[in-house]
Amino acid sequence: MNKESKLGLGGHSFIEELGNDPHASFEEQCAIVAACLDNGIDLIDTTYYQERVALGHVLKRLGRQDEARIMAWNFFKHPGREHELVDYTPYEPQHLDLMLEELQTDAIDLLVIHAHDDTAKLREELALAQDWVQAGKVKQVALGMAQLGHLRQLPAVHPISAVLAPYNAFHREAKEMFEAAKSLGMDAIALSPFVRGWKLDEIGADKNTAAAILLRWVAAEPLVDHVVVSMRKAEWVHSNLRAVGEGPLTEAEIVQLQEWLAR
Ligand SMILES: NC(=O)c1ccc[n+]([C@@H]2O[C@H](COP(=O)([O-])OP(=O)(O)OC[C@H]3O[C@@H](n4cnc5c(N)ncnc54)[C@H](OP(=O)(O)O)[C@@H]3O)[C@@H](O)[C@H]2O)c1
Repeated sequence: MNKESKLGLGGHSFIEELGNDPHASFEEQCAIVAACLDNGIDLIDTTYYQERVALGHVLKRLGRQDEARIMAWNFFKHPGREHELVDYTPYEPQHLDLMLEELQTDAIDLLVIHAHDDTAKLREELALAQDWVQAGKVKQVALGMAQLGHLRQLPAVHPISAVLAPYNAFHREAKEMFEAAKSLGMDAIALSPFVRGWKLDEIGADKNTAAAILLRWVAAEPLVDHVVVSMRKAEWVHSNLRAVGEGPLTEAEIVQLQEWLAR
């Protein structure tokens, strides 16, 4: 059996809007997810509703629904805006069944609540998520785009067991929040190791080298339990796994990275 990887597959792999490359075809999406599951990457994120629908179809086609650990965020389909990436909406009781239907599953492994500053509303969402856990429809609950202030405002009893935030060599602001979360016994899940795919082009170096250095910078960080990266090509699953397997950056690679950061 494959050892569980620190890598998670990002949901933006299934949509075209946030990437450089053409949309991965359904066959390619199946190949990407199969390559992940075959190689110990079982944590699969879905942010926008379109990603839930896509992953539901892919896992059904592969017949591997039981192997994936699905993360899902509160970004929903809005009438008349089905083709747009619509911003998050705080959870309401009707949302979970819609999400399960889109994912074609009975339970969500890690339900992500998008953090915000309306504390009373956030507490309502936490209570709702707790009810869903008790009903067996959600296994764990996470706080996404979390900041330190959100952790400080959590009630004494809450269901949060993980936090998610963008964290990469260019944007390190989440570090303190991750440290606080870890001290509370939560997992730290870093998003977007490359910022976005276009950042790799902007760096201007060999793209494979740049991707490997940026990914290793995050993955070798002991504070980080998982790194979620979107991969629109099955071959990237292998190159990213190879990179993570190489471990921390060498002195020469750190110098190289610093040069990119200084530009
Ligand atoms: N950043 C946020 O605010 C945020 C919020 C919520 C959830 N998330 C989650 O985090 C995930 C990752 O974030 P992200 O997609 O924004 O950024 P990312 O993972 O840092 O960048 C992904 C892009 O990097 C490129 N790439 C991946 N592996 C590569 C390789 N080996 N060689 C060359 N290029 C490679 C691809 O670019 P192209 O395909 O574009 O060429 C891919 O789309 C999302 O899918 C989502 O699940 C992020």
